[in-house]
Amino acid sequence: MKALVTGISGFVGSHMAEFLLKQNVEVTGTIRHRSRMDHIKHLKDIRLVECELRDPFSVEHLIEDIKPDLIFHLAAQSFVPTSWNSPIDTIHNNVAGQVNIMEALRRFDLSCKMQIACSSEEYGHVEPEETPIRETNPLRPLSPYAVSKVAQDFLGYQYYKSYGLPIVVTRTFNHTGPRRGENFVTSNFAKQIALIEKGKKPPVLHVGNLSAKRDFTDVRDVVRAYWFALEKGNPGETYNIASGTCCTIREMLDLLLSFSNVNISIEEDPARLRPSDVEILLGDYSKFHAVTGWKPEIPFEQTMRDLLQYWRDQ
Ligand code: GDD
Repeated sequence: MKALVTGISGFVGSHMAEFLLKQNVEVTGTIRHRSRMDHIKHLKDIRLVECELRDPFSVEHLIEDIKPDLIFHLAAQSFVPTSWNSPIDTIHNNVAGQVNIMEALRRFDLSCKMQIACSSEEYGHVEPEETPIRETNPLRPLSPYAVSKVAQDFLGYQYYKSYGLPIVVTRTFNHTGPRRGENFVTSNFAKQIALIEKGKKPPVLHVGNLSAKRDFTDVRDVVRAYWFALEKGNPGETYNIASGTCCTIREMLDLLLSFSNVNISIEEDPARLRPSDVEILLGDYSKFHAVTGWKPEIPFEQTMRDLLQYWRDQ
């Protein structure tokens, strides 16, 4: 069994690769010339291929060469604030890359299964009474990133319907854990705490909007879900991957602070506020559970302890 992981050097990609190796799957991953390799340098048994997903020729060559049985399409510009600064780049990167892969699958008549990492950000503006969010909730995206994920989501559906490509779309709610990029809120706060503990930063933690509510799952549970999505999920379907609970960003911060003995004050940094923020994401994953039996296993407290430890070890 051969799997292709796009974005293998990223946060989720590195965990996906670790998981697949444990299943005795042959793993190939795409990297770009500027990819950082520190997340995957411990993985000796993966094959890395330099590929620019935005370039159709690069992707055709990749697919013809690898002929994968499974594709986990994780590569993306995934940081919401960046999408306001470079909306076209975010949309081009996220949408063109996926179209190039699907077109290459058609061209070589490959019927490999493909999982597309879409996002709960697609739901965007959600009224509190519309939670927990089901796959049938309306999509009201609030950022260029979210729009790019809606496009990826619908393109997956369209290629399934038009050409029969066996595509499964996962709409994953927030996920975190060791190696989470430092821009994302859980990692950003954990890194600030670790730096303060080491005396490398004054004891002031900078924050943005603390009232937003998010549904967090451990990345190690998420990659297991992606495996199940292709093993047991139905092509043409969309599945929420979530924990089914949510907390405010303030509560997440308080949990992190409770693991530390240092005195830290909190300061709002206006640069961290967004033109529009998704106020609540709380997912219902019962559709996915019914088909695959998946449910999250790692408690949030453990995830956050592991994340803080990761930053203490850097
Ligand atoms: N990044 C960041 N930094 N966010 C902050 C901060 C801060 O200092 N302070 C408060 N927040 C708030 C944000 O305004 C947002 O409401 C929440 O914390 C989470 O922010 P992020 O961690 O940046 O994640 P996100 O929710 O915007 O998007 C993540 O989850 C999506 C799934 O719902 C990303 O991982 C996306 O790629 C993913 O699709």
